[in-house]
Amino acid sequence: MAGGAVLNAGGGKDYPGKLTMFVLLACIVAATGGLIFGYDIGISGGVTSMNPFLQKFFPSVYHKEQEAEKNQSNQYCKFDSQLLTMFTSSLYLAALVASFFAATVTRVAGRKWSMFGGGVTFLVGAALTGAAPNVLTLIFGRVLLGVGVGFANQSVPVYLSEMAPARLRGMLNIGFQLMITVGILAANLINYGTAKIRGGWGWRVSLSLAAVPAAIIAVGALFLPDTPNSLIDRGHTAHAKRMLRRVRGTDDVEEEYNDLVAASDESKTVAHPWRNILQRKYRPQLVMAVAIPAFQQLTGINVIMFYAPVLFKTLGFADDASLMSAVITGLVNVFATFVSVFTVDRLGRRKLFLQGGAQMLACQVVVGALIGAKFGFTGVAEIPKLYAAVVVFFICAYVAGFAWSWGPLGWLVPSEIFPLEIRSAGQSINVSVNMLCTFIIAQAFLPMLCKFKFILFFFFGAWVVVMTVFIALFLPETKNVPIEEMVLVWKAHWYWGRFIRDEDVHVGADVEMPAAKLANI
Ligand code: BGC
Repeated sequence: MAGGAVLNAGGGKDYPGKLTMFVLLACIVAATGGLIFGYDIGISGGVTSMNPFLQKFFPSVYHKEQEAEKNQSNQYCKFDSQLLTMFTSSLYLAALVASFFAATVTRVAGRKWSMFGGGVTFLVGAALTGAAPNVLTLIFGRVLLGVGVGFANQSVPVYLSEMAPARLRGMLNIGFQLMITVGILAANLINYGTAKIRGGWGWRVSLSLAAVPAAIIAVGALFLPDTPNSLIDRGHTAHAKRMLRRVRGTDDVEEEYNDLVAASDESKTVAHPWRNILQRKYRPQLVMAVAIPAFQQLTGINVIMFYAPVLFKTLGFADDASLMSAVITGLVNVFATFVSVFTVDRLGRRKLFLQGGAQMLACQVVVGALIGAKFGFTGVAEIPKLYAAVVVFFICAYVAGFAWSWGPLGWLVPSEIFPLEIRSAGQSINVSVNMLCTFIIAQAFLPMLCKFKFILFFFFGAWVVVMTVFIALFLPETKNVPIEEMVLVWKAHWYWGRFIRDEDVHVGADVEMPAAKLANI
């Protein structure tokens, strides 16, 4: 064995190698897959608050809004239209279904082809929605956008986690979330500009510009190398070894290579990833693949992301000021994500989850109380400027808390906890649960706001309590642990350990994991 691995402080092994330019560039290009998802999240809310768009596709919503404005009627119920929310959320249903197909492409053809497919489909969707003559084309275009998102979100996080050296995996993986936030911000800024276009076709510009991030990831994917894990799994062992040397920037890759081969051999014994994922020994990963994305959405973040302009309008801001406030939350979202980029591999995932959860909860309680105190249950009030500014401040602090915890970790943690044999399937479950919950919240938010009023903020706050306790009890720390060795972390966990028999633990390594070290993870 040349050189070889040593145990690091986190309890995982450090393979030889450094962060090479090659890996960094590959990860930056792959992470741009997050742009399409982000652009879409950011564009929908703004477009659905543009009057010409509403007049053309959703005239009944438009009239209701005009009426409400004239009559000063209940602010909470102004924008409640199932058809309008269907526009926003059709994409998430499509992404949900698509991610299952993406699992096969990602496993059989390699991660990059899922990214490429996602980019191209999104491109067609952008053209269709931008040029849509009627509501049917519009929704069909949205479905194609959703398919693109499903493929990208299924493949990009896995790609990043496989490419990255273990001790920088968090940082490189969070590139994906960073691109999501950049996409959201870009969309917010574009909406701000296009809303001012006099001819009433600004929304077409907003929707068509989705083609830009789509082209970036589609073209970028063509140049991406495959991950060594995927190459080995598909039988290209010699190529895989060359690639591993290249990505790690050293010839001393024997140990890691052997571990990857062992993981792949193990995965070959599994004929049906979908059935296998239900086995008892995978229970911890399965629970996380469902719970983490569901909780991520139950933070209520997309209420802000989709409906920030609408929400700010509800608070009595003028059109322009509403879009501007959405830009402000978008900026906070991007910059706060950097906090996790630089701390996730040092502080670890758990600390960020717990701190972010506490911050979000505090802000939700304050925002709920402030809105409740002004609007009460009738929803009719004039809000003074300063008061509204304080609300916006707490909304920003809430977004920041999300941006360094559940935002990035909601994609990072599921992508790093699965053994190879169920990784693609597991990631599809993660994406589809995320999309399902996004869909439900997008669809339910406006009716819920209308019914529960400011209590809604407390509703999401209660979920944040639940998820924070869940993390504290059930999520082991995964920082610095090589991805093919993760089973050791589960085996050492006070609760999950009982699901994994001793004979289920093979990591193809010749290093014993001392119990004392594992106890510290
Ligand atoms: C979530 C999205 C959310 C975004 C906000 C992502 O991690 O999956 O639903 O809109 O973060 O930045």
